[in-house]
Amino acid sequence: MSWVQQSKLRWYETLAVNVLKCGAIPKHIAFIMDGNRRFANKCGVKKIEGHSKGFDKLTEVLQWCLLLGIKEVTVYAFSIENFRRSQEEVDQLMSLAREKFKRLLEEKDKLNEHGIGIRVIGNMALLPTDLQKLVVESMESTKLNTKAILNIAFSYTSREEMTHAISEVAWGVHEDLLKIEDIDEDLIQKCLYTRHSLQPDLLIRSSGEVRLSDFLLWQTTCCTLYFTPVLWPEFTIWDLSKAILHYQKNLPTLMV
Ligand code: FPP
Ligand code: MG
Repeated sequence: MSWVQQSKLRWYETLAVNVLKCGAIPKHIAFIMDGNRRFANKCGVKKIEGHSKGFDKLTEVLQWCLLLGIKEVTVYAFSIENFRRSQEEVDQLMSLAREKFKRLLEEKDKLNEHGIGIRVIGNMALLPTDLQKLVVESMESTKLNTKAILNIAFSYTSREEMTHAISEVAWGVHEDLLKIEDIDEDLIQKCLYTRHSLQPDLLIRSSGEVRLSDFLLWQTTCCTLYFTPVLWPEFTIWDLSKAILHYQKNLPTLMV
C-alpha cells in the first residue's frame, strides 16, 4: 500500500473533520500502534499479516492527520525491546520495513509533492546494514520537506535515547568542547533523536494497554494521553476524532 493515501472521505467523515477543526488541533500527535498480533490472532492469520495491516492503517491515519492539519506525527514502529521477540518475527518485521522503505523511495516524488518529510529516530546501528542504508536514503530524499513530518521510531526506546544524549554530552566535555556548567535541560534536549521536533501535544495508544512502554518519556511531560481498547489495525477516523475531542476537552491551562 502507498505511503500517501488519497482516498475520498465519506461526506459525514469530512463533516467530522471540519467540526473538529473548529477547535484546537494538536500540532503533533504520537501513536503507539499496538495490537497487531492480537488482531492477527482474532482473524486467524499469521502475526506478520497483522503487522502488515498495521502499516496499511498507518498510511490511512496519516491521510486523516494531513486533512486535519496536523503538522507532525511520530509512530512507535519498532522498540529496542522488540528485538527480544522470536527471531522469526524480528526477521519478518525487518523484511516488512525493507519493503516499505523501498516503496517509500519509489514514491519520493509523491512525498515531495505533498511536502512530507520522513525522519527515523532510534539506534540505527542495531539494524541490518541494508536497512540502515534504505533508512538514510529515505530521510535524505525527503529532508527538504517541512509541510508535514512523519517521525518513525524504529529501534527506539526513550532510555536508550537519553543514554545516548548523555554520552554525547560526556564526549563533548571530554573533548573540551563543553564545560560542566554548560549542561542543562536545553543541551540534553538538543542531543535527543527528536531534537528537530516539537513536543507531542497528544499521545494515542491503541489495544487497551495503558503504559508508555519507554516511548518519548522526555518529550511527553505536558502531553495529553489517550488510551483506546481498539486494536491498531481496526483504528478508525472516529477513534482519532474521539482522541482529538479528548485533547480539546483537556487543553492545558496556563500554570504558573
Ligand atoms: C505492536 O503490536 C506493533 C509492532 C511491534 C510493530 C508495528 C509495526 C508496523 C505497524 C509496521 C511499521 C513499519 C514501518 C516501516 C513504519 P504488537 O506486535 O505488540 O501486537 P500485540 O500487542 O497484539 O501483541
Ligand atoms: Mg503489543
